[in-house]
Amino acid sequence: MRITNLGSLNIDRTYQLERFVEPKETVTALGYEEHCGGKGLNQSVALARAGAEVYHAGLIGSGGDLLLETLQRAGVHTQLVRRTDAPGGHAVIQVDAKGQNSIIVFGGANERITREYIDMVLQQTGAGNLLLLQNEVSNIDYAIEKASEMGILIAFNPSPFNERILRCRLELVDYFLVNEVEGRLLGGAGSLEPCEIIEKLKRKFPRSAFVVTFGENGSYYAKDDACLFQPAFPVRACDTTAAGDTYCGYFLAGLASGKTLGESMRQAAAASALAVTVKGAAPSIPSREEVTKFLLP
Ligand code: RIB
Repeated sequence: MRITNLGSLNIDRTYQLERFVEPKETVTALGYEEHCGGKGLNQSVALARAGAEVYHAGLIGSGGDLLLETLQRAGVHTQLVRRTDAPGGHAVIQVDAKGQNSIIVFGGANERITREYIDMVLQQTGAGNLLLLQNEVSNIDYAIEKASEMGILIAFNPSPFNERILRCRLELVDYFLVNEVEGRLLGGAGSLEPCEIIEKLKRKFPRSAFVVTFGENGSYYAKDDACLFQPAFPVRACDTTAAGDTYCGYFLAGLASGKTLGESMRQAAAASALAVTVKGAAPSIPSREEVTKFLLP
């Protein structure tokens, strides 16, 4: 199965800090790095490193050549990517001493995706293939409706979670990939308790499948009466940026290549564990070989 990922392309400006900045406070960063990122780019890189046939669709703004090169070096097909004269998408990321992150995204070029562009992308994707979306580009509501009409499967990572998500016809989504906070908001659960989140999601979207990640507390797959659990692999985290994107890419690549759900989750959990041990978004996403070696007994 071919995968088209219509998603963001960002330059990440990452600041290392002892702890996150508080209101009215000025702090001096302990370090600064720039990396390629964007949930879209990270997920395409993870898909390709996991061995999937992935076509990235999106817009790069001024100064975006490195984003294109990063996709290409990872083995992502880039013929659907276009340029625009808008400022490039970027993110300002704080990473604290525990490796946790706090992210501000400026959409820039990513918010210039038009309906006409989406029509072209979906034409090239074709029925029976998979469209992957996150919430960092414009017109995702249109992309969901059109893809569904055309018989294209839809995987959606509703992140960042905001009111734009609620304008989408979410009942058309085949696979939701969420972390515990997004899962709670999407289903309307009152707590972060896995069973409650999953039950609420299933009730609200009875025809969809769900992958819900709970960080170091593991991940769940749920659809109808099936529910699988995958424990997280314990590692020492230095930067959790793109851990969820890595999980998403590896999981979908596993499914697309015919792996079982359990094996796809295991590979995804291993890949995201490796990702948090390396700084940066795209640079932290491991290769298939690294994941295989990590999983050796
Ligand atoms: O999921 C991590 C990503 O979120 C970062 O790379 C940043 O660009 C934002 O899109």
